[in-house]
Amino acid sequence: MKIAVLGYGTVGSGVVEVLDVNQKLIASRAKEKIEVKYVLDLRNFPGDKIQEKIVHDYEIILNDPEIGIVVEVMGGVEPANTFVRKALEAGKSVVTSNKALVAKHGSALLKTAREKNVNFLFEASVGGGIPILRALGSSLTGDEIEEIAGILNGTTNYMMTRMFYEGANYEEVLREAQKNGFAEADPTADVEGQDACRKIAILASIISGKYVDFEEIYTEGITKITTEDMQYAKALGMNIKLLAECKHVDGTLYAGVAPVLLHAEHPLYSVNGVFNAVFVKGNMLGDAMFYGSGAGKLPTASAVVADIVAVVQNQGRDIMNFWSEEKLTLEDRSKTSK
Ligand code: HSE
Repeated sequence: MKIAVLGYGTVGSGVVEVLDVNQKLIASRAKEKIEVKYVLDLRNFPGDKIQEKIVHDYEIILNDPEIGIVVEVMGGVEPANTFVRKALEAGKSVVTSNKALVAKHGSALLKTAREKNVNFLFEASVGGGIPILRALGSSLTGDEIEEIAGILNGTTNYMMTRMFYEGANYEEVLREAQKNGFAEADPTADVEGQDACRKIAILASIISGKYVDFEEIYTEGITKITTEDMQYAKALGMNIKLLAECKHVDGTLYAGVAPVLLHAEHPLYSVNGVFNAVFVKGNMLGDAMFYGSGAGKLPTASAVVADIVAVVQNQGRDIMNFWSEEKLTLEDRSKTSK
């Protein structure tokens, strides 16, 4: 299988690395060799062996019948959406880590994929390396999921952990998260809660089987949280976490993102650093927790590569019927708190 990778940033270079380091293992599981034929990037990488694969024109990828899978890891809504749509229309499967794209255009792209009988998979879009989409979309299919509460943004969790345990300064830890490759190109999406909002919208769409519009989700970030707030929380025996939640109450779905105070007994209290965790309550399962590396090069690339393998194994269509085009209107959480 020959593939093309769109974007040679943190995740794109991670995908190339995972495919290289675990080459034999992956080929034995996929039952064929997976080869990166092209990497689309605006830049050149002189002296790097990736340079021979670099192309600057997407049409080369689109018009090459050898390319069976396009891996979109460039981020942002455009031009990612145009590239992904064109690939699906051309009968190529697509794997992406792009939560902004999936939250906005996921329904239309899933529809095109179904019509063209190809795959559109996005495990890496939520929870980095944690296989939470597989868990909700393929494994917990016997349950009604009553509640999801997640720490879904590694950047803010890293920042808040440092502020809580070390009294670190907000600006300083944000810069560190950027340097470590956790933060979005524009970290506003992390600190304003938009990244977590898109991720919980994707999870809510999966558990309800209908499209949940991220723009309807009440979202508040951590920009107003100070190191002093964290220290007050600590003095009270609590921690502050940016929580992304969705809940079914009497057949109605509620969702929201906000910093909240958590007691030490709460299962998400001690999820620290760049780790993500998703607490899930099923009506038959009861409680479950999914925990792991939520951002960064290799954990995210690991999830991308798992999707590539799923496409090659021809399993993609079994796990891609995540939601229909029908839209689910959310209840405004603020109404319930009045
Ligand atoms: N900026 C995101 C985060 C990257 O910090 O969680 C992973 O989606």
